[in-house]
Amino acid sequence: MKILVTGGLGYIGSHTSVKLIEAGYTPIIVDNLYNSKKSVLKRINEITGQQPLFYEADIRNKTDLKPIFAQHDIEAVIHFAGLKAVGESVKKPLAYYEVNVYGTITLLDVMSEYQVNNIIFSSSATVYGDKNPSPFIESYPTGNITNPYGWSKFMVEQCLMDLQKAEPEWSVTILRYFNPVGAHPSGLMGEDPQGVPNNLMPYISQVAIGKHGFLSIYGNDYPTKDGTGVRDYVHVEDLATGHVCALQKLNQSGTHIYNLGNGSGNSVLEVVSAFSKACGQQIPYKMMPRRAGDIAAFWSDASKAQKELNWQAHYQLEDMAKDSWRWQQKNPTGYPDEE
Ligand code: NAD
Ligand code: UFG
Repeated sequence: MKILVTGGLGYIGSHTSVKLIEAGYTPIIVDNLYNSKKSVLKRINEITGQQPLFYEADIRNKTDLKPIFAQHDIEAVIHFAGLKAVGESVKKPLAYYEVNVYGTITLLDVMSEYQVNNIIFSSSATVYGDKNPSPFIESYPTGNITNPYGWSKFMVEQCLMDLQKAEPEWSVTILRYFNPVGAHPSGLMGEDPQGVPNNLMPYISQVAIGKHGFLSIYGNDYPTKDGTGVRDYVHVEDLATGHVCALQKLNQSGTHIYNLGNGSGNSVLEVVSAFSKACGQQIPYKMMPRRAGDIAAFWSDASKAQKELNWQAHYQLEDMAKDSWRWQQKNPTGYPDEE
């Protein structure tokens, strides 16, 4: 069964492509290489023994997409492609709406034209905004979002729900990821941020490898267990498996929304401690003021995914730290330009 994976060379898309192959599906990857490298394909091959078909194409461009749909009998689309840096989205909102919202609408139009009505969409816990109490439950109202990236996810969710209402043959699955971290246990695939990472785990990894002198901890006066921010970290391997489980919902028309998270929170200091243990050295850090737009704490209620998709996160924080460190050590400068 052929599954079109947009953004399939990216962090979560590449891990999901491996899981798809392992589960007997045939991923076809579409990516414009904006935030990824072609050498990911060889790594997928090294892990699975199969190199997925790859199209360098932009989801905003129908003339890129149509021939792919014309040539292949695509059963479903898993849609990862997009921009994801929260801070950047505040500075360049139109770029975020163009790629994330317009790009998705373009993709949906082409899917409609070729009668492909099954989509799994990468959304984010950010859609719950800053007013809901944790754990976040899928039925909570969304909104009160503090940045254009989050609004772009909110808008796409709305587009998908409206489309499904108008055309009931559509099967829409919206997966709301919490904080994806970790890497493939082989050390062959992982997160490869360009420039200075904004997110916690990749930044700590770069401190451990000596690229930065210390970690800035943004706030130690939050009303949390140790004063630092609390998040629901979920291993990218678990997340990838979640997509394979979500394929079960295919051909069940409707809109299905699931949180993918561990169901509990860890503080920044707990992450630092787990990583220090994994890499065998204390990660130096300095306490800094809070980062604008951050929420003190949030985590998921992931029981709906467990009940309906038979999905549950298995990896612990220690595994996430170990796997991130293995990837960082084996690939100190990320993926090569060509392999
Ligand atoms: P990523 O940047 O590693 O992967 C996204 C991929 O999409 C990249 O390979 C990029 O080159 C590609 N892409 C970007 N614009 C494109 C375009 N116009 N046409 C075709 N390809 C394009 O990001 P990721 O961490 O793997 O995230 C995947 C999805 O999950 C994104 O939609 C992101 O918003 C969402 N998400 C990520 C996180 C996270 O923390 N990583 C959390 C919640 C949701
Ligand atoms: N943090 C630091 N120092 C750093 C980086 C982060 O102390 O250098 C802290 C943050 O203040 C926060 C925690 O570490 O308390 C996690 O921060 P991340 O930047 O790793 O993750 P966020 O929770 O801010 O955001 C992530 C994704 C968003 C997504 C959101 C909810 O980046 O795309 O999770 O899913 F919307």
